[in-house]
Amino acid sequence: MELDPNTLDASQRYRLMISGIVPRPIAFVSTINQEGVANLAPFSFFTGIGASPMRLLFCPANQSDGTEKDTLRNAKPVSEGGTGQFVVNVATEAYAREVAAAAEPLAYGESEFNLTGLSMAASQVVKPPRLAESPVAFECETSQVIRLGSNEPGGSNIVMGRVVHIFVRDDLIDGKYHVDPAGLAAIGRMGGRGYCRTSDRFEMPRGRSALAPE
Ligand SMILES: Cc1cc2nc3c(=O)[nH]c(=O)nc-3n(C[C@H](O)[C@H](O)[C@H](O)COP(=O)(O)O)c2cc1C
Repeated sequence: MELDPNTLDASQRYRLMISGIVPRPIAFVSTINQEGVANLAPFSFFTGIGASPMRLLFCPANQSDGTEKDTLRNAKPVSEGGTGQFVVNVATEAYAREVAAAAEPLAYGESEFNLTGLSMAASQVVKPPRLAESPVAFECETSQVIRLGSNEPGGSNIVMGRVVHIFVRDDLIDGKYHVDPAGLAAIGRMGGRGYCRTSDRFEMPRGRSALAPE
């Protein structure tokens, strides 16, 4: 089937994206509002940008009424009325249900930490707390928000952050700064209600030697 995105409606395009771009890592993003109330929400349109400097991005779409999601409202730069900070916590099997639950749309100022029963731990550099249960967390200063559909329902936004501090649970990091994937037990997002584990892994050399039989 050949598909022209211009002939599809927004929900068809969305379903094709979330089921065709898989598996996606999940940024479990903690922020605070101006009153200091903590917010926690999952975002699977998420990736690293680069290591020098260390930057990452996630994409909070606008709500169906065109307004910003709480995470964007909190994380946008101070010059735009936000706090300019956020923490990306890794989503893992240990609290998979809480990751899904934190997507509950709560009123601004109501905390998903209360809804899920997950705990906060003080961050080292930024004001938003990290998720205490998360084995890996990236504390970020927001460098830029790119708005691709300001005030449009479902319009896309890209939040780019500079990593200013990293937390890794001591038992999960080796001398070369690799995080142990088995101990991390990250989960990924598939389409619809689908998720995946990262317990089925395999290794390959890089380059042409990957084509040689073992
Ligand atoms: C696993 C998962 C991944 C999600 N990824 C995204 C995403 O990449 N972008 C987005 O706008 N919403 C995403 N959502 C929906 C948001 O988490 C949801 O709208 C949430 O209520 C936003 O919270 P906030 O208003 O506190 O920021 C995702 C939901 C789940 C369960």
